[in-house]
Amino acid sequence: MEKKGFFSRSKQDMARIAQIMGIVARFGFDDFVEMIRSKENIPIRPFRHKEPGIEHKSRPERVRLMFEELGTTFVKFGQILSTRGDIVGVTYAAELAKLQDSMKPFPGDEAKRIIEAELGVSVEKLFSHFDSKPLASASIAQVHRATLRSGKKVVIKVQRPGIEGTVREDLRIMHYLADVAEKHIPEAAVYDPVYLVNEFERSILKELDFQREGKNALRLRENFKKEKWIYIPKVYEELTTKRVLTMEEMRGTKLIDVIESKSGSFDKELIAHRIAEAFFKMVLVDGIYHADPHPGNILVLKGDVICFLDYGRVGTIDKEVAENIFRFALFAVDNDVNGLIQHLIRTNMLEDSGDMDLLKADVSDLLETYYSTNIKDVKIGYMLSDLVSVISKYKFNRPRELAELTRTLLILEGVGMQLSPKFSIADEFEPYAKRILPSSLNLQKIANTITTNIIDFEYIARTFPMVIRRFLKKLDEGKIHI
Ligand SMILES: Nc1ncnc2c1ncn2[C@@H]1O[C@H](COP(=O)(O)OP(=O)(O)O)[C@@H](O)[C@H]1O
Ligand SMILES: [Mg+2]
Repeated sequence: MEKKGFFSRSKQDMARIAQIMGIVARFGFDDFVEMIRSKENIPIRPFRHKEPGIEHKSRPERVRLMFEELGTTFVKFGQILSTRGDIVGVTYAAELAKLQDSMKPFPGDEAKRIIEAELGVSVEKLFSHFDSKPLASASIAQVHRATLRSGKKVVIKVQRPGIEGTVREDLRIMHYLADVAEKHIPEAAVYDPVYLVNEFERSILKELDFQREGKNALRLRENFKKEKWIYIPKVYEELTTKRVLTMEEMRGTKLIDVIESKSGSFDKELIAHRIAEAFFKMVLVDGIYHADPHPGNILVLKGDVICFLDYGRVGTIDKEVAENIFRFALFAVDNDVNGLIQHLIRTNMLEDSGDMDLLKADVSDLLETYYSTNIKDVKIGYMLSDLVSVISKYKFNRPRELAELTRTLLILEGVGMQLSPKFSIADEFEPYAKRILPSSLNLQKIANTITTNIIDFEYIARTFPMVIRRFLKKLDEGKIHI
């Protein structure tokens, strides 16, 4: 990672830094800009211009609007932050989740030009038909339909012209700003900006490599080839490069439309079950999983067959680590604090400092908020991310795979709930739980816990337990008066 000062940068980077600072100031963070400006001696005039009405908006909302203004790389960054409630806090996470990844399409002729440059063959030679109007258009790529000379229908995902350069330039600047913020701005340093930008860089650079995305698709396809209830489209490797991805066109209904459909033509409960089953097989059996299963990336084909699209984010996980993480969740569901801590120590996720009383108290407090409410279902994704943020304050060796897995679990539980109010990831987990269950737990006990201490998704989503807990604690300590 680069750690250069402002003046050792290229003219182009300096100009972009100045532009970014201008936008940051415009959204009401001029104190932040001023701090960086003075620490780094950046020769720009103070910014006075403010976005109209900005002073009436909350800080998280201003951050979201600012990311939108800063463009693709920052929007993607914001989207990732939105899934790291353990670091940025739930209020920011909820606001950043609103960031939209849609962009004006670029001209079809431009897409053709890129395809030809990448594949070295003219579009006319390759396809009997090419649809210049894109089917979908997002910040990194857009998707065109075409027909191969063989008659096969395909879609081609084409990267936006110049996108990689833009992302790399923004990344350089984000590293620089994160570094300065971490050194000089304590309020920003608490969010671990250097770590966040490093993580972000890894994931976005992967998304810019379609060859990799194609390979991911092929692996998933191979792993599911025997299953009739799930389908992964074929990728045409010979028509795939770093910037162009060609695959079989799927005809189906987008999961968003399935969720909203009232016609009864879909068995939503079955679809939710199949999505969960796919997840557990990918994580616990195959060790490679689709890590972005939001409703825009899932199609439902004839016979309620599910089809995952978009393999830009794929997680790999060691089976043993996956089992240990799920065991960790099971101890939590079972409200067994001692068991949970023993398990973390045994698996080296936690260093045994001898004195675990504080941690025990914190974990008990947290689990209490899940069990004191007499409602409907334990949301394991929420519980896990809450637990992780509590345990992170101790000597926690966070498994590399944990953040991505928890994030995927959260998306999945959301999708499941939207499809069927009866959906419970814990139920779906049962067949696997039998296999990996810690000997001190038994399934009947867990089933009872789940049905008697039912926690409502809506309730948790609305109230965010961590915030409430902190609030209650402060109230208790007399720091807040009502
Ligand atoms: N194999 C496919 N068959 C049919 N439509 C597809 C296929 N792949 C992608 N699409 C359409 O293009 C959209 C964007 O593709 P996706 O891979 O999700 O790109 P992004 O990474 O920009 O989200 C999808 O939501 C879907 O509507
Ligand atoms: Mg997508």
